[in-house]
Amino acid sequence: MKVLAFNGSPRRSGNSDLLLNEALRGAAEQGSEVVRYDLDALKIRPCMHCGGCSETGRCVIPDDMQDIHAHIRTTDRIIVASPIFFFSVSAQTKIMIDRCQAFWAEKYVHKRPVSPGPYGRKGLLLLVGGMKRTERSTVGFECAEAVVRSFFRTVNVQEHVTLAYDDIDEKGAIKDHPIALKDAYEAGKKLVE
Ligand SMILES: Cc1cc2nc3c(=O)[nH]c(=O)nc-3n(C[C@H](O)[C@H](O)[C@H](O)COP(=O)(O)O)c2cc1C
Repeated sequence: MKVLAFNGSPRRSGNSDLLLNEALRGAAEQGSEVVRYDLDALKIRPCMHCGGCSETGRCVIPDDMQDIHAHIRTTDRIIVASPIFFFSVSAQTKIMIDRCQAFWAEKYVHKRPVSPGPYGRKGLLLLVGGMKRTERSTVGFECAEAVVRSFFRTVNVQEHVTLAYDDIDEKGAIKDHPIALKDAYEAGKKLVE
């Protein structure tokens, strides 16, 4: 089974990175092929709303997103890991997602949704936020969840699990969380079972 993973945090060895590593360790131990992108290191322009994909179903911008599109077409599982930035996913994550408008055009304009593949497509969303738990802090997770849900459904990932951890602010603080890394490992393992 092929797993495509996105780290949306600009912080190397940050909390999203560490959570994603554990999820991918779980998936790889089950024999999965893993393709990982650290989005901050890539050259991905924001969607220009040029209308190119409405005509052909394919994005016309020639940058690193083209390789990602190819992997999105052929993967069985997708993992997105992102910090909460201003009550949503990070900009790095959102730029990648916006560039999937081409899949929206393929699905809804050209009536050619991405193939579900032999296993059906499933997803995992890993979120981490620095705010302590209050009624307000959960809004960030809800907004991020809505953004990634719409991405997943657009690329024909019909079901996903979300793990969200609040009150995690310092770089690497997730290591002190009692269960987060173990949860991520187990979720990665389960994703490919
Ligand atoms: C630009 C910016 C905006 C942030 N906005 C929020 C926020 O709205 N809610 C929140 O809970 N944490 C917020 N944080 C804190 C991060 O989510 C937190 O530090 C997280 O652990 C970073 O994860 P990382 O190590 O994977 O990058 C923000 C941090 C930055 C740099």
